[in-house]
Amino acid sequence: MRFFLDTAALAEIEEAAALGILDGVTTNPSLMAKVGVVDFDAHYKAIASLTSGPVSAEVISTQYADIVTEARHLARLAPNIVVKIPFIPDGVKALKTLKEEGIPTNCTLIFSPLQALIAAKAGATYVSPFLGRLDDIGHQGMELIRQIRQIFDNYGFETYILAASLRHPLHVLECALEGADVGTMPFSVLKQLFHHPLTDKGLAQFLADYEKLHARS
Ligand code: G3P
Repeated sequence: MRFFLDTAALAEIEEAAALGILDGVTTNPSLMAKVGVVDFDAHYKAIASLTSGPVSAEVISTQYADIVTEARHLARLAPNIVVKIPFIPDGVKALKTLKEEGIPTNCTLIFSPLQALIAAKAGATYVSPFLGRLDDIGHQGMELIRQIRQIFDNYGFETYILAASLRHPLHVLECALEGADVGTMPFSVLKQLFHHPLTDKGLAQFLADYEKLHARS
């Protein structure tokens, strides 16, 4: 399972990349706004220079022709840009055109397995089902991942399942168990994955025992 960071904060991306387990980055207009970005193009370029993995940059357009024009522009910013396109009819139409042009896409705002099936049929490189937002309204977000996995496996779709809106380590665990290809998460969640109280306790004990031995010699 690939780990992407769901952020537009350069410092977080740098720190995660230094850990050696960062496979890519996803952004959206809300995440860009959160870090106060004004020049989106320059910021996408900066992010893309911090990882060799895919970097999702989202279109703002909602009409087919505008989506395609904007997508072509974003794709030219860096070789690892993946154009994020909302799941709307004009977006789906654009997915097909961009597939024919060899531009990788990430179809976002997926909340049902049938939306994922349509996006895959249209040639999306990735689909982004939003788990946490479904959980927020009392639905089983994880069920969406299971169903998409089954549908894609049934028909041999090569579209990657990019599980998004992950809010805690259990989401990441369940996504890995269900066979999501990618999990994108905030840096806070990535850091939580490292911690286990028994690891901390065990290491403290090992170091204390070493120190005791060292003090005697
Ligand atoms: O990038 C899309 C998704 O991961 C957003 O997550 O927490 O805003 O629902 P969240």
